[in-house]
Amino acid sequence: MTRVLVVGSINMDLVTSARRLPQLGETLLGEGFATYPGGKGANQAVAAARLGAQVALLGCVGNDAFGRQLLAHLEAEGVDIRRVATVDGSTGIAAITVSGGDNAIVVVPGANHQLTPSHLDAAEQAFAEADVVLTQLEIPLETVRHAALLAQRHGKPLLLNPAPAVALPEALLQSVALLTPNEHEFLTLLAQPDADWRAQLAERPGKLVMTHGKHGAYFALKRGELRHQPGFEVQAVDSTGAGDTFNGALATFLPLGLEEAVRRANAAGALSVTRHGAQGGMPTLAELEAFLGSKA
Ligand code: RIB
Repeated sequence: MTRVLVVGSINMDLVTSARRLPQLGETLLGEGFATYPGGKGANQAVAAARLGAQVALLGCVGNDAFGRQLLAHLEAEGVDIRRVATVDGSTGIAAITVSGGDNAIVVVPGANHQLTPSHLDAAEQAFAEADVVLTQLEIPLETVRHAALLAQRHGKPLLLNPAPAVALPEALLQSVALLTPNEHEFLTLLAQPDADWRAQLAERPGKLVMTHGKHGAYFALKRGELRHQPGFEVQAVDSTGAGDTFNGALATFLPLGLEEAVRRANAAGALSVTRHGAQGGMPTLAELEAFLGSKA
């Protein structure tokens, strides 16, 4: 059982659905509204836990009703929440509009921005106990850098999902064992204008996986060969959380080797879009195995 430590955000997703996404300055009548547990850190933690990993989450919620609901939910999903701090202020939220499988998201970080390096220091033992450390960019960058430092100190691979994308210091990029941008984040982070993205993947063999929505994922093996893991065909209803499912699964299956981990993560990501809510379609291990079996 892979032991995954997730250092990341916890949000309540406030989701409206509409026939189409509104244009700038436009008011649109929506078709539905629901709240769902979300946040990239929490989503990735739940994805890994459903797939059988032993998961601990390091994060912050606010001292409010959303915070209490989210903690209860994470605990019910089997995530170890002993290192999630409840701080003064509001829990993070994401205002999401979903339309025809696509989405637009505005995140208000709230308590997530109170996750400091000192929280990580207080929980350093969790780094020692993990097989892999997984983080994203919805928490302060200095906290992400500190997570990288602690992962390095304990000799644990750091998987960084650079979402939402910002330019990252080269020292941080160098300390990451595996970077997992989607095609947009890849451009923000790495690609030089007019650069051949295949060459850029090949420059970081075994250290970079670029996801590309329903097209699947691209990566270079340690010996430099480029690989494309094609996407799986599914009926998409809500793509929110697909990347998080991919990342949680990738961390869980990393001990099986990069190629197999990407194949399984791709399948888990595909299944995740077949139900509403960021975590709604995340498969259990049995569901993932049945899906892969049906495609064999
Ligand atoms: O990746 C999807 C997540 O991004 C949502 O759950 C939302 O909370 C935002 O953090």
